[in-house]
Amino acid sequence: MSRIELKNLRKEYGSTVAVKNLDLVIEDGEFIVLVGPSGCGKTTTLRMIAGFEDPTAGEIRLDGTVVNDLEPRDRDLGMVFQSHALFPHKNVADNIVFGLRMQKVDKEEQRRRLQEVSELVRISHLLTKMPAQCSGGESQRIALARTLVTEPSNFLLDEPLSSLDAKLRRELRAECDRLHEQLQKTFVYVTHDQEEAMTLADRIVVMDGGEIVQMGSPIDIYSNPVSYFVADFFGNPAMNLIEGEFSQNGGGAEFKSSSFTVSLPEEYKNIAPGKGTFGIRPENVLVSKANGGDTRNIGLVEPLGKDTLLYFETTAERPFVAIVEGTENHKSGEPVELSFPGNNMFLFDANGDRIRA
Ligand SMILES: Nc1ncnc2c1ncn2[C@@H]1O[C@H](COP(=O)(O)OP(=O)(O)O)[C@@H](O)[C@H]1O
Ligand SMILES: [Mg+2]
Repeated sequence: MSRIELKNLRKEYGSTVAVKNLDLVIEDGEFIVLVGPSGCGKTTTLRMIAGFEDPTAGEIRLDGTVVNDLEPRDRDLGMVFQSHALFPHKNVADNIVFGLRMQKVDKEEQRRRLQEVSELVRISHLLTKMPAQCSGGESQRIALARTLVTEPSNFLLDEPLSSLDAKLRRELRAECDRLHEQLQKTFVYVTHDQEEAMTLADRIVVMDGGEIVQMGSPIDIYSNPVSYFVADFFGNPAMNLIEGEFSQNGGGAEFKSSSFTVSLPEEYKNIAPGKGTFGIRPENVLVSKANGGDTRNIGLVEPLGKDTLLYFETTAERPFVAIVEGTENHKSGEPVELSFPGNNMFLFDANGDRIRA
């Protein structure tokens, strides 16, 4: 069993605060994804857990025991990095068992684990090859195998797939998922890719500027973002976020921007007037044929097969996007009416904090 606790964890590099007083409990067997933009402190957090960086302040506990002063090798953690530096002059098998040789695990046991792990990540056919003869995806599997073979209680993975192309990334992502199911170990996975976070995590930890800004299940984060930042980060295509102004008018409330005027549902009738942002996900925008209401013309039409993306030009930097099912016959230039169901609206104040009804 293995439970990881971070208490008030902080890391400063000179005047840069890489991680600001992080509090996080990772339960035994959980698949946690730390996600956020580049520079938000993900790698630093992972390296402190692994023991490669000393915290400036705070505690790291493994199963209740403070491990701040333990060497990395004594923490029972397996780490997989983005760049999978294999030894170029050793073949794949020797690369994989290198850690076991260092630990003086006996030869028979080395062979047994090598075989088991290569089957697990499907590289049995590569064992006699040299790293230079392996593709990027194969090298990444070898790097995984090299960590798996040491049988750690926890896995720490730092953007393990980011050097791969999209298709391989999806394939190996599924592989990580399968490994977690099979091994039932704790996984702490770092990525800047929201899709990876959504598909892999039991629980997502969203970071920004060295801090946790939201934690929750993927569905929770997607459907209930606490801020503009989180709303914008998750979803592809991204949520439509329109800058404008909230106001009250005779009992109701509305949002107004240069391109949109939206009546807000009853529950927002007491909204504080002032600048803010209106958000709606592309899949929640209702598109209907012109029928006497306000119309706007479809810009670009992008058929994806299962759905179609419709783009609308606005005065904002990003076009407004709607997703409609199937390959319905929408044409560029066609006038349509857009409407927004009240329960799918997201409102944010001028600081980017979510306005709740
Ligand atoms: N060894 C270091 N020396 C100085 N600054 C560092 C060092 N490592 C990271 N930083 C800084 O700390 C912040 C967080 O970095 P990092 O944890 O690598 O972010 P992420 O992995 O989320 O991209 C960044 O501002 C980065 O420049
Ligand atoms: Mg990083």
